[in-house]
Formats: sequence, C-alpha cells, structure tokens
Amino acid sequence: MGLSAVRSWLTLGEGSTPLVRARRLEERLGLDLHLKCEGLNPTGSFKDRGMVVAVERAVDSGAHAVVCASTGNTAASAAAYAARAGVQAIVLTPAGATATAKRAQARAAGARVLEVRGTFDDALRLCRELSQREGFVLVNSVNPDRLEGQKTVVAEILDQLGEAPDVVALPFGGGGNVSAVALGLAEAGVTARIVVGQAAERATTWASAIRISEPAHAANVAGLVAAGRVEAVTLTDDDLRTAWVALATQEGVFCEPASAAGIAALERTDGVRGSTAVCIVTGHGLKDAGSVDEGDAVTVEPTLEAVLEAIG
Ligand code: F0G
Repeated sequence: MGLSAVRSWLTLGEGSTPLVRARRLEERLGLDLHLKCEGLNPTGSFKDRGMVVAVERAVDSGAHAVVCASTGNTAASAAAYAARAGVQAIVLTPAGATATAKRAQARAAGARVLEVRGTFDDALRLCRELSQREGFVLVNSVNPDRLEGQKTVVAEILDQLGEAPDVVALPFGGGGNVSAVALGLAEAGVTARIVVGQAAERATTWASAIRISEPAHAANVAGLVAAGRVEAVTLTDDDLRTAWVALATQEGVFCEPASAAGIAALERTDGVRGSTAVCIVTGHGLKDAGSVDEGDAVTVEPTLEAVLEAIG
C-alpha cells in the first residue's frame, strides 16, 4: 500500500516492517501500545522509505551525484540506493559525532564520506550549497520526495492495526519524519494525536542521531504545534536512556538511542491512558552498539562450575 505506487527497480524491499505489541510496557503505561519497528528496513532505519523515492527521482532528473548531510542514517541509506542506481553518494557528517557502524555502512556502499569540522547544521548548509551545482541533488528530507516516501509508514500502520490509532509517537530531530507522518495522517483523514520527543540538549545529546540544533523543518513543526496537530515533548538524556533500556529489556526491541524518543515522549504525555498508541521506533540498535555498556561482561573458564558460579 502507498509505496507500491513508487516502487521500482531501485527498491531494496523497504517498508513492510513489523508492528509488534509491547505487552510489558503497555501494562506500565496503561494503554494499548504497538511498536513500528523501522530498524527492520534494508539499511536499518526509517530513512529507506523516502530515500528510494528521492534517489530514483534524482537519477530520473539526470543527477550524477546525490548529496546529504547526516548524523549517520541518512548517509547509510543514501549510499545504498546511490550504489544501486550507479550514481555517486557524497555524504557530509559532523566530525567525530556519528556512530561507527553508520559510517561503515556508507563507506561499504562506496559513498564519499567527508567529516566536517563542525555540526550537522554546518554540514547541511554545505550540502545545500553543493546541490546548487549542476548534477548534484540534495537528498536530505528538505527534498520533498523524501517525505513522499516516508509518509507510507502511516498507511502501513493503519493497515496492520486495522483501525486508526489514538496516538502516534516518534522522535523529532530535524522534523522531516514528523512532517511526513503528519502529512500521511492528514491524507488518510486520521486525526490521531501526534506526540514527538526532542532532546532538551539538542547540540550535545547522547542520542547522536538527533544531535541537531537547527531543525530544517522547525517552521512546519511549529505550525503543526500551533494548529494543535502535534505535541512536542522535551526530553533529558536520562529520559531517553530510560526508555531505550526499557524497550530492550522489557520488549526485546533493541533500538538506537534516538529511536526511544517516541516512547519517552509518550511516558511524559498526559491523557493517553486507555488509548491505542503506535510508537515509531526509527532505527536498529546495531547501528549504535557502542551505546551499550559492556561493564558487566564476564569471562569464565570453560567449565560448568565456572558458569554456575558466574550466573549465581
Ligand atoms: N531517529 C533516527 C534513528 C534518526 O537517524 C533520525 C534522524 C531521527 C530519528 C530524527 O528524524 O530528523 O526526520 O526528525 N537522522 C538524520 C540522519 C538526521 O542524518 O540520519 P528527523
């Protein structure tokens, strides 16, 4: 549904991600809670839904390179689709501020990865400038083709749930996904509450994927908030960490830190008890395995006694 209209030779099978019931978390929160596991997309994040569309249209328009600024996931996704399309991907990341696995994904697919001595916002400014040049197309979510693809998550949720949810919760970094989800809901005629979680310390948050000071879609999100369509919740890194741990230890859903922002926001939202909520979990935990504390890894001798002693 939805994406099939634009699906083409470039597809890696994006979308059709699982919607799973969060039985332990929902008991605590007092609602019906479903997790839309977007980390199960081909490159491990929700970005693939929009990227397949953006890269295809860039190629159709004669581009020889796609460019993006990224905290990592956009880079990995752009690199994969550019490889398939046979065009170059040029990726600018904030130096020293992205997860190793995400940079590895981009490099593995042959992208030109440049680490900018600056922030994500600096990288995006440079990419906007670069894309003014002939043959270069910007594939950040300011490219409307990205949102066209990303909004398909809404149709899938409605399909899988079999009804409209009361609440949809998700992270708010640059705001592209918030804009896409709001668009998808509006087009489906669904007025679910949209609850979004953003880091209080945007410039330095532990959740590196959403380390963005100047959201590209800030004006659109502010408009949606003013219109009562979106509720934005500001989260401390502790809030994010608590939700991230809960998803893994209570639901078996290992996501990257930023992806827990939807759940964290839901926990801080009034009036959701008794409702049906869908939380969009945006990226896979293996993207940022370095966030997991290895403090209590234990090495034992290869004997049963040693194992029994270790597990207490
Ligand atoms: N979750 C994850 C895992 C992300 O990678 C991002 C953004 C977001 C949430 C926020 O989405 O920006 O549409 O509000 N990642 C971008 C990137 C910035 O470069 O990969 P948003």
